[in-house]
Amino acid sequence: MTDSIRFLMCAPDHYDVDYVINPWMEGNIHKSSRDRAVEQWQKLHYIIKDRAIVDLVAPEKGWPDMVFTANAGLVLGKTVVLSRFYHKERQGEEPFFQKWFEDQGYTVYTLPKDLPFEGAGDALLDREGRWLWAGYGFRSELDSHAYLAKWLDIEVMSLRLMDERFYHLDTCFCPLSGGYLLYYPPAFDSYSNRLIEMRVASEKRIAIAEADAVNFACNAVNIGNIVILNKASSGLKQRLKEAGFEVIETPLTEFLKAGGAAKCLTLRVTEPLIGERHANAPVESRTVQLEGHLLDSGLINRALDRILEAGGSFQVLNFQLGEQKQSTSKADVKVSAPSHEVMEAILSQLIDLGAVNLPQDERDAKLEPVVLNGVAPGDFYVTTIYPTEVRLNGQWVRIKNQRMDGAIAVSQTPEGIVARCKLLRDLQVGEQVVVDVQGIRTVRKTESREHRNAQEFSFMSAGVSSERRVELVVEQVAWELRQIRDRGGKVVVTAGPVVIHTGGGQHLAQLIREGYVQALLGGNAIAVHDMEQSMLGTSLGVDMKRGVAVRGGHRHHLKVINTVRRYGSIAKTVEAGIVQGGVLYECVRAGIPFSLAGSIRDDGPLPDTQMDLIKAQEEYSQLIQGANMILMLSSMLHSIGVGNMTASGVKMVCVDINPAVVTKLSDRGSVESVGVVTDVGLFLSLLIQQLDKLTSRYQIAQVGE
Ligand code: ARG
Repeated sequence: MTDSIRFLMCAPDHYDVDYVINPWMEGNIHKSSRDRAVEQWQKLHYIIKDRAIVDLVAPEKGWPDMVFTANAGLVLGKTVVLSRFYHKERQGEEPFFQKWFEDQGYTVYTLPKDLPFEGAGDALLDREGRWLWAGYGFRSELDSHAYLAKWLDIEVMSLRLMDERFYHLDTCFCPLSGGYLLYYPPAFDSYSNRLIEMRVASEKRIAIAEADAVNFACNAVNIGNIVILNKASSGLKQRLKEAGFEVIETPLTEFLKAGGAAKCLTLRVTEPLIGERHANAPVESRTVQLEGHLLDSGLINRALDRILEAGGSFQVLNFQLGEQKQSTSKADVKVSAPSHEVMEAILSQLIDLGAVNLPQDERDAKLEPVVLNGVAPGDFYVTTIYPTEVRLNGQWVRIKNQRMDGAIAVSQTPEGIVARCKLLRDLQVGEQVVVDVQGIRTVRKTESREHRNAQEFSFMSAGVSSERRVELVVEQVAWELRQIRDRGGKVVVTAGPVVIHTGGGQHLAQLIREGYVQALLGGNAIAVHDMEQSMLGTSLGVDMKRGVAVRGGHRHHLKVINTVRRYGSIAKTVEAGIVQGGVLYECVRAGIPFSLAGSIRDDGPLPDTQMDLIKAQEEYSQLIQGANMILMLSSMLHSIGVGNMTASGVKMVCVDINPAVVTKLSDRGSVESVGVVTDVGLFLSLLIQQLDKLTSRYQIAQVGE
């Protein structure tokens, strides 16, 4: 029976490592031994010939990788999908393989040009014939999978390869008879692993370790219950034996130097049509349009990177390049994804970047009702900081209360349809919520090259700002603070206790006194340390003048808390003359609203500290309303909290000694945020100096008039 099975092989007459197109070939150019290669190949040939018929295709000079016949094409029944090699180094093999298939009477399908697909190296039939596993990520393009499904009339499971060493599916994945699967899970992304686990029962999955994987144990030829491979550990051999397989090891080390082994050296050309099949490739495609300074701002790179990172693939269908510096470009990008789930993940990221559907593809947003208070439908669209619109009854409606990490609730009001951003906890049964990613767009300001440069200049790529650069940012911030104050705008400060410890308290107090701050957000600690400093001269027990710890000073902050608790509130303590200076003193004096959000580590707390965090979040978000600028001073917790509730368009300046905090906030990707990695006390002192300079310049100008 087995002699009806046929394999195609190609003798290694011209085999060598002549170039590098995979990591195995690196350092191996002309390092393989011809004699040993011939001997190893012949042994493999002999082992297979004993169990099946071996056909041979004539080797061609100049095409050293032709020995790897797995890459000739993908065969099912009498049909072949011919390979389209990714690398030009192998493209010359195509006509020879094509001729061989045609001579044998196969129906040969060829893919569109520029759509790479590397045959049975990247497409493996389930041995029961139920579906086709197809790999993508390195050599084969995801879009080729739809053709395979159509031409071979089969369901295709797309698997994404993640590890360069396992660049072809057959290097890390081997379906075996009886529904078994030999594979190396880390070679795949998590989505693909889930897919594999869904299709193959756990007792049928033989997952191997890296040591076996790098010996190409998955690159095995399976004939009935025989598994032929280069090398396997005793543990793996045992495992295969228990599953009823007989393992034959045959060294193929010379071919490993080119990144191939047993399976690569063969192509099974009798793949019977079994079972009931149906064409189905869950691969989805959508075309979106991006517009803006696509090249200058790097937007196109970011968009394409995100597609690939999320597991999709793309084709740029149309690119209109804006030729002048000020003119924008437009690109139509076809996005493909292995499933709807991945498509949604990709599209929501592209929407963030401002991608829109082509007008002819525009559809209304999908809505689903809330069925449990405070819980959104599973597939709800998660909002971003960017102004967003949803398409409802053919009209684009702007969302109210824009913020990130919310859901979009749609309701009918007497004034018409209203869409607003809501936190999950505020959703009410019966409300309609936008789900999926259809009919949603964000309105992005075109990011100009100037903006990007400005951003780069304030944010050091290495994360650390040089002194001169800090000065430049300070100059810019001082100027803007001045502008905002003069036109009656609003600046909100979030500050952590480090402001006090680093000696910045007096500067922040001055900013408040001089009218540069309209609201203060912080926690329990900054208020405690600020008042400790004005009442006792220490901050957490450290003498602020001499910089040394005061004996018994660790109790100071509790004394302060106790005092404020006795008076009932910070304002009352100030009014009683107990606190005579500092940040909170100035707030109380000037009537500047502040909100102190509590946390688990708070001592006391102060009577003013809001320990109900939902209330604290509400207070914060109210105080942020209408802000033109937010100065974030060394408080990761409060700054990120504030960042989360602020829509784009508000300038944010984040100062922290820890580059990670600065980066985290800049990751919002909004052009308005500026990060400064420096000591906050120093920053505030420079800022005050700069503001004083502006004031004296202003006075001189007035005197001169
Ligand atoms: N040097 C060849 C290449 O990189 C090896 C091909 C191995 N074939 C395979 N089906 N994995 O293309």
